[in-house]
Amino acid sequence: MDSIYENSSFILSTIASDEKPSQCNEREREVTSPKWIKVLLIVLGFSLVFALGGLCSLNNQHIMISKQLSAQEINGTSEETVSLMSCNHSVDGWIACRGKLYLFSSDKLNWSSSRDVCVSKGADLVTITNQTEQDFLVSKIKETHWTGLNDLETEGHWVWVNNQTLTETGVQFWFSEGQREPDNWKNQDPSGENCASLGDENGNFQSWFDASCKKQKKFICEKKY
Ligand SMILES: *[C@@H]1O[C@H](CO)[C@@H](O)[C@H](O)[C@H]1NC(C)=O
Ligand SMILES: *[C@@H]1O[C@H](CO)[C@@H](O)[C@H](O)[C@H]1NC(C)=O
Ligand SMILES: *[C@@H]1O[C@H](CO)[C@@H](O)[C@H](O)[C@H]1NC(C)=O
Ligand SMILES: *[C@@H]1O[C@H](CO)[C@@H](O)[C@H](O)[C@H]1NC(C)=O
Ligand SMILES: *[C@@H]1O[C@H](CO)[C@@H](O)[C@H](O)[C@H]1NC(C)=O
Repeated sequence: MDSIYENSSFILSTIASDEKPSQCNEREREVTSPKWIKVLLIVLGFSLVFALGGLCSLNNQHIMISKQLSAQEINGTSEETVSLMSCNHSVDGWIACRGKLYLFSSDKLNWSSSRDVCVSKGADLVTITNQTEQDFLVSKIKETHWTGLNDLETEGHWVWVNNQTLTETGVQFWFSEGQREPDNWKNQDPSGENCASLGDENGNFQSWFDASCKKQKKFICEKKY
């Protein structure tokens, strides 16, 4: 029993003296004053070692985080995150994002009345020009919304309200699983489907659908800022 105790305390003291940094040993040797000062200094010495250790690991963490951040910046991830966060900035109900102001309506109107409301606010229905803008808009809606895309002028020739074609913008996000859009479905409206919405009534918010322009939907206005 005794020998085990002695052994373990021997091991403990070996470990302790191994771990003691040289500073602490020097301090101990220098001190020739009363016992309590010795104890105090030893305690202070250990505190210092722990504090230094803490600082060191904090610094390492900081370096690691900085490395991760700069890697993300190179990757473009951080840029994306920052941009999406700056897209939460709202001015009088309009959301500013990448050079455009967007208004998500709360009322539902047919396509031409929706456009009229946007125009009356110095804006127009939204024009979706790239994947980033598409993703941003999709992230903001929870139901179908009118966009500025239509083929009212010439059936099958889709243009934005600024007369830009899909070839000109270079992107289109028509629904394409199973029933491909646009399909100019005439069952509900004999004049077909000449206006495009972001999202449909079945919870597919990430795609475009052509719909009867007479339908009442929420809508997205955009203007420059
Ligand atoms: C960079 O982006 C790619 C794809 O988005 C991802 O798989 C990868 O983990 C990213 N790397 C870093 C360092 O963030
Ligand atoms: C910005 O919006 C996104 C998604 O819409 C959300 O996850 C994020 O927490 C928002 N950030 C701020 C700063 O409000
Ligand atoms: C996407 O469109 C937005 C708004 O029109 C624009 O600010 C942004 O620069 C475009 N991004 C790319 C990658 O083209
Ligand atoms: C788009 O075209 C129509 C008819 O072709 C024209 O009346 C309208 O002014 C044009 N709009 C813009 C913004 O150029
Ligand atoms: C849209 O709604 C307005 C106002 O209710 C109405 O005057 C107009 O005829 C409607 N247009 C279409 C195409 O349904």
